[in-house]
Amino acid sequence: MTQRGRFITFEGTEGVGKSTQLQIAANTLTALGVEFIVTREPGGTPMAEAIRELLLAPREEAVNDTTELLLMFAARAQHLHTRILPELKAGRWVLCDRFTDATFAYQGGGRGVPAERIALLEDLVQGDVRPDRVILLDAPVETGMTRARHRGDLDRFEQEALAFFERIRATYLQRASADPERYQIVDAARPLEVVTEDVVSRITAMVAEAS
Ligand SMILES: Nc1ncnc2c1ncn2[C@@H]1O[C@H](COP(=O)(O)OP(=O)(O)O)[C@@H](O)[C@H]1O
Ligand SMILES: [Mg+2]
Repeated sequence: MTQRGRFITFEGTEGVGKSTQLQIAANTLTALGVEFIVTREPGGTPMAEAIRELLLAPREEAVNDTTELLLMFAARAQHLHTRILPELKAGRWVLCDRFTDATFAYQGGGRGVPAERIALLEDLVQGDVRPDRVILLDAPVETGMTRARHRGDLDRFEQEALAFFERIRATYLQRASADPERYQIVDAARPLEVVTEDVVSRITAMVAEAS
């Protein structure tokens, strides 16, 4: 029987190094001979990527919190059921740039949507599926912002004020401290080589643990 793959997500505020470290994790899995896919949220399938464009586009029209929340979970339902779960079932690992923790952090902590409401949709869309491990890259909001600034035009979330991202960071840290088995907080304020070394050793340990 094929062993189910591991579901690993990368979380954190803008520019902390999620995409960078996800690539490092991918290289580590390749070196260790583990089969995997790389994906992201919102998005990860053609339809979910179309919903992502709807979500990120800056617009004149005010976006209702519930609209935003439902679109996030609509994209997630499509991504989880048509892509992530089949891959895990086939024994491949899934490395995902953001997942439901980002909804608790951004729509919950950032926008103020009650966590219970998000948890309700989490159960509806995911059943009991949760990431096996969450790599939370944590750094002061300004550090990430400075790193991300060169990226050019800001999306609808990146246009928010600093306080919005402070609430997001705090929510991520709260969630991580409440479940230290599943969440690994990585100090992402350190130099790139140091963070990289840390992530390589954590991914290597996960592979050892799974085999
Ligand atoms: N530890 C680090 N120190 C300095 N720069 C970093 C570090 N990690 C990533 N970067 C750089 O910061 C920028 C944002 O990183 P990225 O991985 O795109 O962040 P995210 O995906 O979290 O928004 C990139 O230019 C990346 O090379
Ligand atoms: Mg990124």
